Amino acid sequence: MKPLLQQLKARFSAALSAAFGPDATTDPLLAATSDPKFGDYQCNVALSLARPLAQKPRQIAEQIVAHLDVADLCEPPKIAGPGFINLTLSRSYLEAQLLQIQSDERLGISLVEKPQMVVVDFSSPNIAKEMHVGHLRSTIIGESLARILEFVGHQVLRLNHVGDWGTQFGMLIAHLQDVHPEALTTADTLDLGDLVSLYRAAKKRFDEDEAFKERAHQKVVALQSGDPAARQVWKLLCDQSRREFQVIYDLLDVHLQERGESFYEPFLPGIVQELDELGLLVENQGALCVFLEGFTNREGEPLPLIIQKADGGYNYATTDLASIRYRVREDQGDRLIYVVDAGQSLHFQQVFGVARKAGWLPESVEATHVPFGLVLGEDGKKLRTRSGETVRLQDLLDEAIVRARADLESRLQEREIDEPEDFKTQVAQRVGLSAVKYADLSQNRTSSYGFSFDKMLSLKGNTAPYMLYAYARVQSIGREGGIDFAGPDFAALRGKTPVSLDEPTELALAKHLLGFGDVLYQVADDLLPNRLCQHLFELSQKYNQFYENCPVLKAEEPIRSSRLMLCDTVARTLKLGLSLLSISVLERM
Ligand code: ARG
Repeated sequence: MKPLLQQLKARFSAALSAAFGPDATTDPLLAATSDPKFGDYQCNVALSLARPLAQKPRQIAEQIVAHLDVADLCEPPKIAGPGFINLTLSRSYLEAQLLQIQSDERLGISLVEKPQMVVVDFSSPNIAKEMHVGHLRSTIIGESLARILEFVGHQVLRLNHVGDWGTQFGMLIAHLQDVHPEALTTADTLDLGDLVSLYRAAKKRFDEDEAFKERAHQKVVALQSGDPAARQVWKLLCDQSRREFQVIYDLLDVHLQERGESFYEPFLPGIVQELDELGLLVENQGALCVFLEGFTNREGEPLPLIIQKADGGYNYATTDLASIRYRVREDQGDRLIYVVDAGQSLHFQQVFGVARKAGWLPESVEATHVPFGLVLGEDGKKLRTRSGETVRLQDLLDEAIVRARADLESRLQEREIDEPEDFKTQVAQRVGLSAVKYADLSQNRTSSYGFSFDKMLSLKGNTAPYMLYAYARVQSIGREGGIDFAGPDFAALRGKTPVSLDEPTELALAKHLLGFGDVLYQVADDLLPNRLCQHLFELSQKYNQFYENCPVLKAEEPIRSSRLMLCDTVARTLKLGLSLLSISVLERM
């Protein structure tokens, strides 16, 4: 079935054109209400049509309602205030829907009508530099968006646009020649930790020593012109970084296809040539640039996008232009998504603008920068280690696991029980990693967020442990009542066990369960995974309210079965929803 909001919108559109002619197909301005006083959904379109139709909004609302056919879904619509139309889902509809979603693997959520090819560029760390918390956000948000887009039916190409072609290689090669010549020809003589400190040392020399700078520069030229020795070191360095990044991806259950900057290298001269032929290139202090209207620097002067530097080298932007052209022409992308920190907003605006102008990004293809804010330390400043260095991702994840383990140990001690070692390891690992992921995803990504292990590991509030606990709690009801929710006997009951929504908490829970599809569709559209977190959080809260008010195992049949079915649907929704945030549930914790 189509998500509910979409169905209702279609009904409103039909009513609008029946009442005011086929041209009146504006957006029905329908949204879920936050206050049950106004029903479950409210439509505000009558107010916005008042002026164009030159009628009173209330009159318009009456005409819409006269043509609105929602009797199978809702109670009779009510007109409120100046002309709001309020809808309340009917109990019989909710009960019938629940029966339907029970029996469906996808919990009744249909696939989009027009599947797109969506290219998601995320994670994208830089080779020979360490992955840091900034890349963590991109990795976690990107993975979740990719999962949600796939789930609703799009085809998703997940691309890791690693920085494997910058000037850092010139410095590194020149520096390695002096301090670790064996690393130039032998694999695995360094680990990424060494590589990072080597990079720092090389950068220092580069900034201070003219002769070294010149040598580094020659190495870049050698690499870019295909010198075999330079290529060999480059490849060794990339392989090594790649393996170490993979450790993190495996840990986080993140799946990506690497297509780094170097991949586009052969296309760069063509990019320059095409821009030149289109008459878009302007020489500015020896560099070839494109000036776009509307882009100015602080002084109000036109801001160039540099395509080729005076020394002939290409830029980050040039590679991104080539990648856009490739993603449209070769990958057949309908939608290009870039999950990159908010600091690069201007870069993407310029690059998208130039690509549009050059015809590489046709109007039919949507390109979106999905920006995110910084990760802040407890002091409100950019997260750093005590000694002021950028925090390594691996250390951060390790610490989350260690702390989750300590929490678990103390809970067990309180209850004076112990568990086998492999249980404790598994719980600590899942809870720790989920906490880090969820803390990131549950914030509106456009703002910066404060990183706090204490908050993210807390069993209270909008946290991963809270959500995991809600899931485990349903499972414990199953264990207590001798019901195996995962077994074939229970599966055979799904879709055949009527749910009866007698209590207000049951009704509220059912409505929330049925809103899940709308939330997923909305995230697939506006790319804000925090909406999904919020929905699941509210689901857990509504479940708790239901559980406090409605006995399950102690209820008489057929209420008992009906309530068990509600429990099961909640658990399945949580499991599916969390999996789209790349969080796997625990049966017990
Ligand atoms: N490597 C870049 C960085 O660490 C991110 C690349 C993002 N993707 C892109 N197509 N520009 O800042």
